Order: sequence, then structure tokens, then C-alpha cells
Amino acid sequence: MRIGVLTSGGDCPGLNAVIRSVVHRGLDVHGYEILGIEDGFLGLIEGRARVVGHDDVTGLLTLGGTVLGSARVHRDRVEWAVAHARELAAALGIDALIIIGGDGSLAAARKFGAAGLPVVGVPKTIDNDIAATDVSFGFDTAVHVATEAIDRLKTTAESHQRVLVVELMGRHTGWIAMTAGIAGGAHGILIPEKPFDIEAVARMIEERFARGKKFAIVAVAEGAVPLPGTLRFEHGGIDEFGHRTFGGIGNRLAEDLEDLLGTEARPVILGHTQRGGTPTAQDRVLATRFGWHAVEAVHRGAFGRFTALRDTRVELAPLEEAVARVKTVPPQRWMECESVL
Ligand code: F6P
Repeated sequence: MRIGVLTSGGDCPGLNAVIRSVVHRGLDVHGYEILGIEDGFLGLIEGRARVVGHDDVTGLLTLGGTVLGSARVHRDRVEWAVAHARELAAALGIDALIIIGGDGSLAAARKFGAAGLPVVGVPKTIDNDIAATDVSFGFDTAVHVATEAIDRLKTTAESHQRVLVVELMGRHTGWIAMTAGIAGGAHGILIPEKPFDIEAVARMIEERFARGKKFAIVAVAEGAVPLPGTLRFEHGGIDEFGHRTFGGIGNRLAEDLEDLLGTEARPVILGHTQRGGTPTAQDRVLATRFGWHAVEAVHRGAFGRFTALRDTRVELAPLEEAVARVKTVPPQRWMECESVL
């Protein structure tokens, strides 16, 4: 048997650990040949792939990014690939395909499965927005990086008596901003699930200043939105791949807070730093377990499924579930968060 494996969408710490685990379990234990498809669905369409052996995965456990490469592919091209799924698989000689990707890629995985290509999905998201798994690898690393950034920003903000607005990733959900914000002791946390009032943010900082504190850190998720009727702000547009773009809220907040407070306020956009570099121990372990279970799913013929962490167990859930719902921060969690601000 020959198993194809590809990494799709934005990269994420732990992707390489999954690839390594697939090779260890698939090749060493079951004797399957593992074919690494390059640049996600693009490599599948263009027939670009290479056999991945034991030597190729040495050292991958700790390496960020993906050695197979990843690429965003326009929806129309993915639809074309789905329509030609069997031919593309035959051209590469693969009997099954493991797709490691976020919600969009897992939605595509489901379509490939329906089109006759046996697939197993592995969820990856630093945003922690896939509801069907308790968490995915990448999130813990992103939170770790963001928390360290907040820790560091605190000492410089205090030295210069500044307000620092740190913009963190999270297009539709505020998991990174909320978790790193709590862990780093940010003074304000703004997330997409809870539209904010900039005047309330300014008041919170003023009250802090009135208590003798002369600096403040505001953690804002890139997808945070102002309450209707307050600040006028529109998030980006649509990129060439048909995805909505975000960005700019950190700059805008810093600018407006400076005006409202009459105190220096600076933006810090953490951006892709959050998903680069070596994965945390927790992410390495989860990625390794997902790879192991993905291979076992192929071995048992449990196609059309993806690896999902449920409590402490890795289960195989139907791919439909992976895309059924975006996991937003629930009101109860937000209440807890507000109480520690
Ligand atoms: O989905 C993960 C994510 O990191 C988002 O938080 C972010 O908006 C997006 O990817 C950015 O990805 P790219 O710059 O690769 O389009």
C-alpha cells in the first residue's frame, strides 16, 4: 500500500511531527510506502511528490513549518481536483491520502472522500477554532509565543510608561488572545466574539492610571470588532484565493487610544511569529499521536474520518463534524476571563 500525505493551508508548529509519526507508524510498523505530496493540494494537482523514508524524517519532531511545503489554492482549482480525484491519485499511485489541514482543507478532504479517494484528515489550527476536537497541535505553541511576547512587552511598556496594543492571530475566534492575555496578565483583552467599545477600553486604562499604574497592555485578536455605533472600522477584503483578509485593528486601536488618552500608545503586531519555530512539548506529543492514529485509520480502512482529541483520547470522527461548527469562546469562558482582568 502507498499512502500519500500532504499539509495544506497556513503552516503550524507540529506539522513535521505528524509527517514523522506517519512515516514511523506507516513504514516501520505496517510496511507502507509513504509519499509526501509537495505544497498541499497544488502538488496533488501538479503531480509533485516524493517518497519519504526514515532518514527524511530524522530531526523533524522539533522542526517548525512543514518539510512538504504548503500553499493556498483557489477554491475553483480544489473543486477541479475533487472532480479528478481518482485520476490524480492514480497518477501518483496512492491508495489512500492523509490530509493535514484546517477547516477549509478538511472540508475539501470530505469532498475528495466522496469523490472516491480514500482519505483520513488530521486537524491543524493555531487558532483552536475546530469544534470537533478539544484542541489541535499548534495552538499551545502560539499561546506560548504570544504569552512570552506579552511578558516582554510589559517590562518595556512600564519603563516607558506606554500603552502597548498587541495584535494576536485569531480571525474568527479569540482563543489565542484570551489565553495568552490571561497568562501574560494583559490589562485588556479584545476578541471577535465580544465586540468592544473603545471608550470603555480607554476608561479602563484611565482608571488604571488613576491607581498609580503608568502603563497598560491590551491584547487584541486580529478579528476583533468594535461595537456597532462606536469606532468605525472595516476588516480587509478578499484575497486572491477567495479568503477574507484581516489586519489593522491593532494599529487603529493604538492610534485612537493615544488620541483618547493623550498618552503614547503603540501597536505590536505579532503576526506569523506565532506559528513559526519549534513546537512545544504538548504540541509535539499531540501531533505524534494524530499521525499514529491517522495511519491506524488507513490500516483499518476507516476512511472519511479525522483524528479528534476528546478528553485525553484520540478518536476518529466523521469528516462532516470537522467543518460543522467554528469553535468560538463560549460566554462562560469569557466571563471567567473578564473576572481576572
Ligand atoms: O488560520 C491560522 C492563521 O494563522 C490565522 O490566524 C491568520 O489570520 C491566518 O492564518 C494568516 O495566514 P496567511 O498569512 O498564511 O494567509
